[in-house]
Amino acid sequence: IDPTVKLTEEIIRLKMEKNAVILSHYYVDADLQDIADFVGDSLQLAQAAAKTEADIIVFVGVHFMAETAKIINPSKKVILPDLKAGCSLAESAPIEKFRAFKAQYPDHKVISYINCTADLKTVTDVVCTSSNAVKVVESFPKDQKLIFAPDKNLGNYLNSLTGRNMVLWDGACMVHEQYSVEKIINLMDENPDAEFIAHPECERPVLLLAKHIGSTSSLLNYVQESPAQKFIVATESGILHQMKKACPNKLFIPAPANDSTCACNDCSYMKLNSLQKLYICMKHELPEVQLPDEVIELAKKPILRMMEISK
Ligand code: 13P
Ligand code: SF4
Repeated sequence: IDPTVKLTEEIIRLKMEKNAVILSHYYVDADLQDIADFVGDSLQLAQAAAKTEADIIVFVGVHFMAETAKIINPSKKVILPDLKAGCSLAESAPIEKFRAFKAQYPDHKVISYINCTADLKTVTDVVCTSSNAVKVVESFPKDQKLIFAPDKNLGNYLNSLTGRNMVLWDGACMVHEQYSVEKIINLMDENPDAEFIAHPECERPVLLLAKHIGSTSSLLNYVQESPAQKFIVATESGILHQMKKACPNKLFIPAPANDSTCACNDCSYMKLNSLQKLYICMKHELPEVQLPDEVIELAKKPILRMMEISK
Protein backbone atom coordinates (compact mmCIF):
# COMPACT_ATOMS: atom_id res chain seq x y z
CA ILE A 1 0.00 0.00 0.00
CA ASP A 2 1.18 3.47 -0.86
CA PRO A 3 2.60 4.92 2.42
CA THR A 4 1.34 8.38 1.51
CA VAL A 5 -2.31 7.30 1.37
CA LYS A 6 -2.90 7.56 5.09
CA LEU A 7 -1.05 10.87 5.28
CA THR A 8 -3.24 12.26 2.52
CA GLU A 9 -6.38 11.05 4.28
CA GLU A 10 -5.22 12.58 7.55
CA ILE A 11 -4.47 15.91 5.89
CA ILE A 12 -7.95 15.97 4.37
CA ARG A 13 -9.53 15.05 7.70
CA LEU A 14 -7.62 17.82 9.50
CA LYS A 15 -8.64 20.26 6.81
CA MET A 16 -12.35 19.53 7.38
CA GLU A 17 -12.02 19.43 11.17
CA LYS A 18 -10.21 22.79 11.35
CA ASN A 19 -11.98 24.53 8.46
CA ALA A 20 -8.64 25.08 6.75
CA VAL A 21 -7.86 25.82 3.11
CA ILE A 22 -4.69 24.54 1.42
CA LEU A 23 -3.15 26.86 -1.17
CA SER A 24 -0.23 25.47 -3.20
CA HIS A 25 2.08 27.16 -5.67
CA TYR A 26 2.86 25.54 -9.03
CA TYR A 27 6.48 25.00 -7.97
CA VAL A 28 5.86 22.59 -5.07
CA ASP A 29 5.98 18.80 -5.52
CA ALA A 30 3.15 17.13 -7.45
CA ASP A 31 1.59 15.45 -4.37
CA LEU A 32 1.33 18.84 -2.67
CA GLN A 33 -0.33 20.35 -5.73
CA ASP A 34 -2.79 17.47 -5.94
CA ILE A 35 -3.90 17.74 -2.32
CA ALA A 36 -4.48 21.52 -2.49
CA ASP A 37 -7.86 23.22 -2.61
CA PHE A 38 -6.30 25.70 -4.98
CA VAL A 39 -3.10 25.61 -7.07
CA GLY A 40 -1.95 28.77 -8.79
CA ASP A 41 0.60 31.44 -9.53
CA SER A 42 1.53 34.15 -7.03
CA LEU A 43 -1.31 36.48 -8.00
CA GLN A 44 -3.98 33.79 -8.11
CA LEU A 45 -2.88 32.53 -4.69
CA ALA A 46 -3.02 36.03 -3.19
CA GLN A 47 -6.50 36.45 -4.70
CA ALA A 48 -7.59 33.06 -3.33
CA ALA A 49 -6.24 34.04 0.11
CA ALA A 50 -8.23 37.28 -0.04
CA LYS A 51 -11.47 35.44 -0.85
CA THR A 52 -11.32 32.46 1.48
CA GLU A 53 -13.82 31.90 4.28
CA ALA A 54 -11.66 29.27 5.97
CA ASP A 55 -10.36 29.90 9.50
CA ILE A 56 -6.86 28.67 8.72
CA ILE A 57 -4.85 29.28 5.55
CA VAL A 58 -2.21 26.61 4.96
CA PHE A 59 0.29 28.04 2.49
CA VAL A 60 2.31 25.44 0.62
CA GLY A 61 4.82 27.65 -1.14
CA VAL A 62 7.42 29.97 0.31
CA HIS A 63 7.49 32.39 3.23
CA PHE A 64 6.78 35.64 1.37
CA MET A 65 3.60 34.08 -0.07
CA ALA A 66 2.34 33.04 3.36
CA GLU A 67 3.24 36.49 4.67
CA THR A 68 1.20 38.10 1.89
CA ALA A 69 -1.78 35.92 2.82
CA LYS A 70 -1.42 37.06 6.46
CA ILE A 71 -1.22 40.72 5.47
CA ILE A 72 -4.43 40.38 3.47
CA ASN A 73 -6.12 38.36 6.23
CA PRO A 74 -4.70 39.50 9.59
CA SER A 75 -7.50 37.91 11.60
CA LYS A 76 -6.90 34.44 10.14
CA LYS A 77 -4.27 31.96 11.20
CA VAL A 78 -1.72 31.45 8.39
CA ILE A 79 0.58 28.45 8.68
CA LEU A 80 3.19 26.92 6.38
CA PRO A 81 4.93 23.52 6.39
CA ASP A 82 8.48 24.91 6.73
CA LEU A 83 9.46 28.33 8.02
CA LYS A 84 12.83 28.02 6.26
CA ALA A 85 11.16 28.11 2.83
CA GLY A 86 12.64 31.45 1.82
CA CYS A 87 13.43 33.02 -1.56
CA SER A 88 16.70 34.36 -2.97
CA LEU A 89 14.86 37.43 -4.27
CA ALA A 90 13.29 38.28 -0.91
CA GLU A 91 16.65 37.76 0.81
CA SER A 92 18.45 40.02 -1.66
CA ALA A 93 16.67 43.10 -0.36
CA PRO A 94 16.98 43.59 3.41
CA ILE A 95 14.98 46.60 4.53
CA GLU A 96 17.82 48.76 5.90
CA LYS A 97 19.90 48.41 2.73
CA PHE A 98 16.82 49.14 0.64
CA ARG A 99 15.97 52.25 2.67
CA ALA A 100 19.47 53.60 2.01
CA PHE A 101 19.11 52.84 -1.71
CA LYS A 102 15.67 54.46 -1.87
CA ALA A 103 17.00 57.59 -0.14
CA GLN A 104 19.21 58.19 -3.22
CA TYR A 105 16.05 58.56 -5.35
CA PRO A 106 13.73 60.80 -3.32
CA ASP A 107 11.38 61.60 -6.23
CA HIS A 108 10.90 57.95 -7.26
CA LYS A 109 7.93 55.72 -6.46
CA VAL A 110 8.57 52.07 -5.63
CA ILE A 111 7.12 49.03 -7.38
CA SER A 112 8.01 45.80 -5.60
CA TYR A 113 7.72 42.35 -7.00
CA ILE A 114 5.63 40.29 -4.58
CA ASN A 115 8.75 38.10 -4.02
CA CYS A 116 9.99 40.33 -1.20
CA THR A 117 9.64 40.61 2.57
CA ALA A 118 6.71 42.22 4.35
CA ASP A 119 9.15 44.91 5.52
CA LEU A 120 10.01 45.81 1.94
CA LYS A 121 6.30 46.02 1.13
CA THR A 122 5.93 48.66 3.88
CA VAL A 123 8.09 51.07 1.81
CA THR A 124 6.46 50.17 -1.51
CA ASP A 125 3.85 52.11 -3.49
CA VAL A 126 2.47 49.17 -5.48
CA VAL A 127 3.26 45.46 -5.39
CA CYS A 128 3.16 43.39 -8.58
CA THR A 129 3.53 39.79 -9.71
CA SER A 130 4.81 38.59 -13.06
CA SER A 131 1.15 38.28 -14.20
CA ASN A 132 0.24 41.93 -13.71
CA ALA A 133 3.62 43.71 -13.74
CA VAL A 134 3.07 45.54 -17.05
CA LYS A 135 -0.33 46.79 -15.90
CA VAL A 136 1.16 47.96 -12.60
CA VAL A 137 4.04 49.81 -14.31
CA GLU A 138 1.62 51.42 -16.76
CA SER A 139 -0.67 52.55 -13.95
CA PHE A 140 1.94 55.27 -13.29
CA PRO A 141 2.15 58.38 -15.52
CA LYS A 142 4.90 58.08 -18.16
CA ASP A 143 6.99 60.78 -16.49
CA GLN A 144 6.82 59.25 -13.01
CA LYS A 145 10.28 58.10 -11.95
CA LEU A 146 10.22 54.54 -10.63
CA ILE A 147 12.31 52.07 -8.63
CA PHE A 148 11.69 48.40 -9.32
CA ALA A 149 12.79 45.84 -6.70
CA PRO A 150 14.05 43.26 -6.05
CA ASP A 151 14.26 41.33 -9.38
CA LYS A 152 16.61 43.03 -11.88
CA ASN A 153 15.74 40.49 -14.61
CA LEU A 154 12.00 41.10 -14.42
CA GLY A 155 12.76 44.81 -14.06
CA ASN A 156 14.90 44.81 -17.22
CA TYR A 157 12.23 42.94 -19.11
CA LEU A 158 9.58 45.45 -17.98
CA ASN A 159 11.80 48.38 -18.98
CA SER A 160 12.13 46.89 -22.47
CA LEU A 161 8.38 46.22 -22.78
CA THR A 162 7.14 49.55 -21.45
CA GLY A 163 9.93 51.88 -22.62
CA ARG A 164 10.47 53.03 -19.01
CA ASN A 165 13.80 53.49 -17.36
CA MET A 166 13.07 52.16 -13.88
CA VAL A 167 15.97 52.10 -11.44
CA LEU A 168 16.58 48.45 -10.61
CA TRP A 169 17.55 46.77 -7.37
CA ASP A 170 20.25 44.16 -7.95
CA GLY A 171 18.40 40.95 -7.00
CA ALA A 172 17.75 37.72 -8.88
CA CYS A 173 16.06 34.35 -8.57
CA MET A 174 18.69 31.67 -8.06
CA VAL A 175 16.65 29.17 -10.11
CA HIS A 176 15.98 31.34 -13.15
CA GLU A 177 19.59 32.58 -13.32
CA GLN A 178 20.93 29.07 -13.91
CA TYR A 179 19.93 28.52 -17.52
CA SER A 180 22.59 28.10 -20.17
CA VAL A 181 21.97 30.04 -23.39
CA GLU A 182 24.38 27.81 -25.28
CA LYS A 183 22.72 24.58 -24.14
CA ILE A 184 19.25 25.96 -24.84
CA ILE A 185 20.31 26.87 -28.40
CA ASN A 186 21.73 23.36 -28.89
CA LEU A 187 18.54 21.80 -27.57
CA MET A 188 16.44 24.00 -29.86
CA ASP A 189 18.60 22.89 -32.80
CA GLU A 190 18.07 19.24 -31.86
CA ASN A 191 14.30 19.83 -31.46
CA PRO A 192 13.27 22.22 -34.23
CA ASP A 193 9.61 21.34 -33.61
CA ALA A 194 9.80 22.47 -29.97
CA GLU A 195 8.84 25.93 -28.73
CA PHE A 196 11.04 27.56 -26.12
CA ILE A 197 9.08 29.33 -23.36
CA ALA A 198 10.44 31.19 -20.33
CA HIS A 199 9.54 32.96 -17.09
CA PRO A 200 10.52 36.67 -16.98
CA GLU A 201 12.77 36.02 -13.97
CA CYS A 202 15.25 34.56 -16.52
CA GLU A 203 18.17 36.66 -17.73
CA ARG A 204 17.80 38.76 -20.88
CA PRO A 205 19.86 36.51 -23.24
CA VAL A 206 17.55 33.60 -22.33
CA LEU A 207 14.41 35.70 -22.78
CA LEU A 208 15.58 36.82 -26.22
CA LEU A 209 15.34 33.18 -27.38
CA ALA A 210 11.80 32.65 -26.10
CA LYS A 211 8.68 32.32 -28.23
CA HIS A 212 6.55 33.10 -25.19
CA ILE A 213 7.45 34.82 -21.90
CA GLY A 214 5.11 34.81 -18.93
CA SER A 215 4.23 33.98 -15.35
CA THR A 216 3.69 30.36 -14.39
CA SER A 217 -0.04 30.57 -15.17
CA SER A 218 0.66 32.31 -18.48
CA LEU A 219 3.14 29.54 -19.47
CA LEU A 220 0.56 26.92 -18.48
CA ASN A 221 -2.13 28.60 -20.61
CA TYR A 222 0.27 28.99 -23.50
CA VAL A 223 1.15 25.29 -23.79
CA GLN A 224 -2.56 24.47 -23.90
CA GLU A 225 -3.34 27.01 -26.60
CA SER A 226 -0.29 26.51 -28.82
CA PRO A 227 -0.57 23.92 -31.61
CA ALA A 228 3.03 22.83 -30.85
CA GLN A 229 3.47 19.35 -29.39
CA LYS A 230 6.83 19.94 -27.73
CA PHE A 231 8.10 22.67 -25.39
CA ILE A 232 11.41 23.55 -23.77
CA VAL A 233 10.45 25.16 -20.48
CA ALA A 234 12.65 27.65 -18.61
CA THR A 235 11.11 27.84 -15.18
CA GLU A 236 10.95 25.76 -12.00
CA SER A 237 10.22 22.10 -12.68
CA GLY A 238 7.05 21.94 -10.53
CA ILE A 239 4.98 23.57 -13.26
CA LEU A 240 5.62 20.57 -15.54
CA HIS A 241 3.17 18.59 -13.39
CA GLN A 242 0.26 20.84 -14.38
CA MET A 243 1.46 21.06 -17.98
CA LYS A 244 1.51 17.26 -18.29
CA LYS A 245 -1.89 17.02 -16.63
CA ALA A 246 -3.39 19.59 -18.99
CA CYS A 247 -1.70 18.20 -22.11
CA PRO A 248 -0.94 14.49 -21.58
CA ASN A 249 0.05 14.04 -25.23
CA LYS A 250 2.52 16.89 -25.40
CA LEU A 251 6.19 16.69 -24.45
CA PHE A 252 7.82 19.08 -21.96
CA ILE A 253 11.59 19.36 -21.73
CA PRO A 254 13.11 21.27 -18.78
CA ALA A 255 15.52 23.94 -20.07
CA PRO A 256 19.15 22.95 -19.38
CA ALA A 257 21.20 24.73 -16.73
CA ASN A 258 24.88 25.69 -16.84
CA ASP A 259 25.71 23.05 -14.26
CA SER A 260 24.27 19.77 -15.50
CA THR A 261 25.12 17.98 -12.24
CA CYS A 262 22.64 19.89 -10.04
CA ALA A 263 18.86 19.85 -9.82
CA CYS A 264 18.97 23.45 -11.02
CA ASN A 265 15.38 23.59 -12.22
CA ASP A 266 14.22 22.89 -8.69
CA CYS A 267 13.78 25.72 -6.20
CA SER A 268 15.35 24.31 -3.06
CA TYR A 269 13.07 26.53 -0.96
CA MET A 270 9.87 25.35 -2.63
CA LYS A 271 11.11 21.80 -2.34
CA LEU A 272 11.42 22.10 1.46
CA ASN A 273 7.67 21.42 1.52
CA SER A 274 6.59 17.81 1.89
CA LEU A 275 3.43 15.86 2.65
CA GLN A 276 4.87 14.86 6.04
CA LYS A 277 5.62 18.46 6.99
CA LEU A 278 2.20 19.54 5.75
CA TYR A 279 0.55 16.96 8.00
CA ILE A 280 2.58 17.99 11.07
CA CYS A 281 1.94 21.67 10.37
CA MET A 282 -1.82 21.13 10.13
CA LYS A 283 -1.92 18.92 13.19
CA HIS A 284 -0.09 21.40 15.44
CA GLU A 285 -1.08 24.57 13.54
CA LEU A 286 2.59 25.53 13.41
CA PRO A 287 4.74 27.24 12.26
CA GLU A 288 2.51 30.29 12.09
CA VAL A 289 3.20 33.55 10.27
CA GLN A 290 3.07 36.44 12.70
CA LEU A 291 3.67 40.07 11.87
CA PRO A 292 3.55 43.30 13.87
CA ASP A 293 0.29 45.26 13.37
CA GLU A 294 2.13 48.29 11.99
CA VAL A 295 3.87 46.14 9.33
CA ILE A 296 0.51 44.63 8.31
CA GLU A 297 -1.08 48.05 8.08
CA LEU A 298 1.67 49.53 5.88
CA ALA A 299 2.29 46.43 3.74
CA LYS A 300 -1.41 45.98 3.02
CA LYS A 301 -1.78 49.23 1.05
CA PRO A 302 0.52 48.35 -1.90
CA ILE A 303 -0.95 44.84 -2.06
CA LEU A 304 -4.52 46.15 -2.19
CA ARG A 305 -3.48 48.65 -4.87
CA MET A 306 -2.10 45.74 -6.91
CA MET A 307 -5.38 43.82 -6.45
CA GLU A 308 -7.34 46.87 -7.59
CA ILE A 309 -5.13 47.36 -10.68
CA SER A 310 -5.30 43.66 -11.67
CA LYS A 311 -9.11 43.40 -11.47
P1 13P B 1 4.56 33.29 -10.56
O1 13P B 1 3.86 32.05 -10.08
O2 13P B 1 3.76 34.50 -10.20
O3 13P B 1 4.88 33.23 -12.01
O4 13P B 1 5.92 33.42 -9.73
C1 13P B 1 6.99 32.61 -9.92
C2 13P B 1 7.88 32.53 -8.74
O5 13P B 1 9.07 32.61 -8.81
C3 13P B 1 7.30 32.32 -7.46
O6 13P B 1 8.32 32.23 -6.55
FE1 SF4 C 1 12.28 32.65 -4.98
FE2 SF4 C 1 13.16 31.78 -7.31
FE3 SF4 C 1 12.39 30.03 -5.51
FE4 SF4 C 1 10.56 31.60 -6.73
S1 SF4 C 1 11.82 30.04 -7.68
S2 SF4 C 1 10.71 31.14 -4.54
S3 SF4 C 1 11.75 33.46 -7.01
S4 SF4 C 1 14.12 31.44 -5.32
